Amino acid sequence: MANIVIVGAQWGDEAKGKIVDYLANDKEMVVRYGGGNNAGHSVTVGNILYKFHLIPSGILNCDTVCVISDGVVIDPGVLVKEIKGLHAQGLSTSNLKISSSAHVILPYHRLQDELEERRRGDTKIGTTGRGIGPAYMDKAARVGLRLGEFVRPDRFESRMTSLLAAKNESLAKLYGAEPLDVHKTLEEYRDYADYLRPYVMDTSRLIYEAARGEKGVLFEGAQGTLLDLDLGTYPFVTSSHPIAGGACIGTGIGPTFIDGVIGVAKSYTTRVGAGVFPTEQVNEIGEYIRERGHEYGTTTGRPRRCGWLDTVILRYSVQVNGMSCLSLGHLDVLSGLDEVKICVAYREPDGSLITQMPTDLPYREELEPVYETLPGWKEDVSAVREYTDLPENAKLFAKRVAELIEIPIGTLSVGPGREQTIIFEDVIQSRCKKRR
Ligand code: IMO
Ligand code: MG
Repeated sequence: MANIVIVGAQWGDEAKGKIVDYLANDKEMVVRYGGGNNAGHSVTVGNILYKFHLIPSGILNCDTVCVISDGVVIDPGVLVKEIKGLHAQGLSTSNLKISSSAHVILPYHRLQDELEERRRGDTKIGTTGRGIGPAYMDKAARVGLRLGEFVRPDRFESRMTSLLAAKNESLAKLYGAEPLDVHKTLEEYRDYADYLRPYVMDTSRLIYEAARGEKGVLFEGAQGTLLDLDLGTYPFVTSSHPIAGGACIGTGIGPTFIDGVIGVAKSYTTRVGAGVFPTEQVNEIGEYIRERGHEYGTTTGRPRRCGWLDTVILRYSVQVNGMSCLSLGHLDVLSGLDEVKICVAYREPDGSLITQMPTDLPYREELEPVYETLPGWKEDVSAVREYTDLPENAKLFAKRVAELIEIPIGTLSVGPGREQTIIFEDVIQSRCKKRR
């Protein structure tokens, strides 16, 4: 079977977890390759809603090995809580492996995230406040703590003590912050280190073997393409690489091992936090989408900004991810509207049209979205299981999206449930073919 990357094609929250859960079924391994507990992935199975921040959504398939790899930043307290939560729900984590090269989020990272956002005032990014940016900053500055060292009993105390002393000093000088209690922090984090130790190992070899194996690997993206540190709408981005290429850097697998990339998008657009959003609807359409789509953050509970589908953004996403096919979701949310719109270009003030996403989009407030208007569908589609049973106008919408982004649709989703997915198996098979 092919090695496939699942990637968010928009600004995150595209319901990647559901498609990961579906495709994980026949894979040997699911690997989460980037980000941290800024992610919130919900998967509904039967009547049960599972929420994950760090653990790959593949954990619901008991035969699948689940890996949190090198590119992830891990808040140990959050991970311990998540593991215990799964145990409480009767799920096993014996197949969970965590990379010793993943970096640790420590309390000063969360503090710095909060202090830095406060300092930015009106220009704040609207981060999730989980310490993600500061943890990646320390990694890049080569002063981070990796999980392998964190769980080593002979290294834990000396490394933690010196890191805490240095950070207490710099945070006091930079922001006038109160120092963190070294003793209390050591006590708390020693428990986490003890708890996580059995899960921690060198995962790159493990992933390599699985990627060469029969069943293949699913690489689970977090966040979305437009939140990528290099290729997103900088500076309103996260500090990692959610794009498909991040799956190589974040795991240690070479690009020739990736057989296919499935982008996940909603039938509309959402974004949390600040930053450019050309098709945002601050009106009754935005509210309609928010209420019907339950567009409130899994991680922070913040209401998400909502607007029409933007295919300028999606085409860019197809380009930078080398996307093989698209998983288009939340089709049910658009039911009931007289008409639906798709953004196909942006208009410059002089009237000229832009059809490719400009890299300076974050400071091009003057650009106006150009829409194609399609007839809506009144029918509730949440019970539809076959493409042929969809209302004609919903089919028209999906077809037009595929035409505009020039790749086929691999799945269409009509609700959060596992079974609420129309799968074009032939598209997935032919576009994500094993190459070795
Ligand atoms: P999933 O995996 C949506 C956004 C934040 C903020 C910016 C930077 O659920 O799709 P950070 O805390 O990462 O420094 O915040 O990125 N953001 C997300 N938005 N879904 C996510 O993850 C996100 N992870 C980060 O809202 O605008
Ligand atoms: Mg989210």
